[in-house]
Amino acid sequence: MKNLINILDLSVEEIAELIEVADDIIANPAKYRHVCDDKILATLFFEPSTRTRLSFESAMLNLGGKVLGFSDANSSSSTKGESVADTVAVVSGYADIIAMRHPKEGAPMVAAMHSTIPVINAGDGGHYHPTQTLTDLLTIHHEKGRFDDLVIGLCGDLKFGRTVHSLIEAMSRYSGIRFVLISPEELKLPSFVKQEYIKNKNIEYVQSTSLEDVIGELDILYMTRVQRERFFNEEDYLRLKDSYILDKAKMEKAKDDMIVLHPLPRVNEISTEVDDDPRACYFRQAHYGKFIRMALIMKLLEVKV
Ligand code: CP
Repeated sequence: MKNLINILDLSVEEIAELIEVADDIIANPAKYRHVCDDKILATLFFEPSTRTRLSFESAMLNLGGKVLGFSDANSSSSTKGESVADTVAVVSGYADIIAMRHPKEGAPMVAAMHSTIPVINAGDGGHYHPTQTLTDLLTIHHEKGRFDDLVIGLCGDLKFGRTVHSLIEAMSRYSGIRFVLISPEELKLPSFVKQEYIKNKNIEYVQSTSLEDVIGELDILYMTRVQRERFFNEEDYLRLKDSYILDKAKMEKAKDDMIVLHPLPRVNEISTEVDDDPRACYFRQAHYGKFIRMALIMKLLEVKV
């Protein structure tokens, strides 16, 4: 059995295979409609979600499988004090695969240690979000056609933004990557990510507090929301929440073929006036999430077409 806890649990070759399967699912959906007819996905979401939970559910339903689970920790027995370990030990008897989101970093890893079925990390605290990264990679594959030789700007909350951490890990394995890290001082990339996946790999990077100064250099701009739920006090959140707002004026300074990605949900960091710009890919990106999750479920369940 294999789990997906960190994007690095998948080799570059395995990611390429998942993308190939996702592309085939997009082209030939009928071929995949019954491949998981007898399988059940459990979605154990201890934190709010729209895209991740619903795309996982849609993915399993589109493969012919069934779904069960909860979308709110308050409706689970964790409120009575049940541990993650006990929860997954029980759910292992009810389902064939688990997608888990949890506010505590490392919780899906603990779950994997106590589960007899595959566990997928659907986001753990401010740590990692590997299936968002698979979504991002499928989007980059479609919109840019390559993973090498890209200047990638990551903008906003680089401290708590788990999608940023996982994307940096993933992109650090391709060649010719340059990262442009755009954040306020207080929301800079944590050293565990910068040291291990940028500095130790001798990847070129710059840090900036100004989006306007660097937007013209970028092939990809990855905008992120300031993660209110991870702040210790509301005052700091209110001071930092609108640090960056991507609008039409800033887009005029960007390359004609730059793409704008955002894991969503957005708050104010991308003005809605940008939505009609053909370079704005974030809603297409959310749709790609379903197809890559279909491919991932098939891989972890070792389902063949
Ligand atoms: N991108 C993402 O994780 O969105 P949700 O929080 O809505 O799942």
